[in-house]
Order: sequence, then structure tokens, then C-alpha cells
Amino acid sequence: MPDKQDNIKTFLESHLATEFVGRQLYQYTTITSTMDVAKELARDGAAEGTVIIANKQTWGKGRAGRAWLSPEGNLAMSIILRPSMENLPQLIMVASLAVVRAIKSVSGLETHIKWPNDVMVKNKKICGILIESEVKGTAINFAIIGIGINVNLNPVAFPEISSLATSLLQELGTEVSRNELCYVVLSELEKLYLEAKAGAPTYKEWQQHMNTLGKSIRVKLGESVEQGIAESVTKGGNLMLRDANGNLTEIIAGDVEIIKD
Ligand code: BTN
Repeated sequence: MPDKQDNIKTFLESHLATEFVGRQLYQYTTITSTMDVAKELARDGAAEGTVIIANKQTWGKGRAGRAWLSPEGNLAMSIILRPSMENLPQLIMVASLAVVRAIKSVSGLETHIKWPNDVMVKNKKICGILIESEVKGTAINFAIIGIGINVNLNPVAFPEISSLATSLLQELGTEVSRNELCYVVLSELEKLYLEAKAGAPTYKEWQQHMNTLGKSIRVKLGESVEQGIAESVTKGGNLMLRDANGNLTEIIAGDVEIIKD
């Protein structure tokens, strides 16, 4: 159901029952990128769980220096966390699983994860996640999870993404409440983060939602390209790739292209 009043901050302030995620909230009508604002706030000592939401971003950031299209009607937010070095790799899993659960709960739609953290519907991207962190000495000063969900966007109106992206509106044929979606993402994210910190095997559920495993893939990281069968993921979320010679390589980051299902 579309929102009668699209003020996510007001909605979250009266509905969220989280311990710390979303207890401090900033909502902007238009900003360059929620990542920039989050970084500034985090450097100034913002509390763990602070959330920055934008109705529209003019300079949305994607992975690997790419741009992220972020018009009105979509959900664009950044969450400031202060994990230990040990918990940092789990943020990818925590964030993508929170989105998978939230989309299912709010719309009934099944999504899957393309390693490492794209949320997809039938091979089209519905959500992108960007994680940036800053280290101080030997510890993590802060990590920022940026989540962009194509909610009420009509991808056909954006030729630059129309063949690669989908939205909840496009999949369901009806608008979805950004307020409710945001509420569930943040609630699930806190739950998953606390469980991961307590030692839960988050990678198991993450792996179950992944459509990359068992497939013949190509992984690009900068100039380097690896090819093989995506065999499994490690507890820390790295991808184990078996090449044609039977060698197993652990991949930490990269862009996956599925060659054969
Ligand atoms: C990707 O798939 O390339 C990652 C996209 C991440 C987009 C989100 S939208 C909210 C936050 N602010 C940004 O500028 N980027 C992230």
C-alpha cells in the first residue's frame, strides 16, 4: 500500500522498537549521497545505529566507483555501525539478508542474493548495498551500510538501468510503502547484527538465498578476472571458486557474471 504521508522519520519514530538501530534518524528531501552525510556524522562521533535517509540523492554512490540512480520513490539510506574487526565481514550478509527478509515480509516477493550483496529478482537487481569503513589504529572506527532499494521506481523510464534493474512496483504492479519496508529492514538488520556478534552462523541462511552457487561464473576485480564454478561461501562471506584445473581460490570481492546456470 502506498504511504499517505511519506515521512519515514515520523513513521519510524513512532513504530521502531529497536535497541539502537534508527534511534537517531536524519531524513533529507534531497542530498548528494547518504554515505557522505553518514561519514561526516560518524567522524563526529554519531551513535551506533544512526540512520540517514534521503528521498532523493543527486550523487548516489554504487560499488566500485559506479553511480547509483536514486530518484524519489526509492529507498536510500545509510546506517552507521561500529563493529569489531572480526564482525566487519559479516555486515554484507547481515544487510543483504535484512533486505531479503523485509521484501518478503512487506510484499511477499521472493528475492535472491547475487554474491556478494546484490538482491535480485529473476536476474534483475532490486537492491544494491555498499559498505564503507574507516579504521583507526588497529580497530574499526565505523562502518557504514548503504542500502538502495528500487521501490516505486519505473525502470522503463530510466534507459540506463532498464535492462538490468527491476523494482517492487514493476514486479508487483502496485506501489509499496517505503515506511513499512524501511521499518522491517532496520528491525531485521539490528536482529541479524546482534546475532552475528553473538556468534550465529549468519552465512548459512545467506548461502541458502544465494543464486550464485553451483554456477559457472566470471568474477572481475579491477583488471583481474577469475573464472570457474562458484562452489561455496566461507563463514566470513568469501566466495570459493573452483577453476577448470580443479584449483580452489578464495575470492574476497568482485563483480560476478553468471556464464551458465
Ligand atoms: C551497488 O550495488 O553498486 C551499491 C549501491 C548502493 C546504493 C545506496 S543508496 C543509499 C546509499 N547512498 C549511496 O550513495 N549509496 C548507497
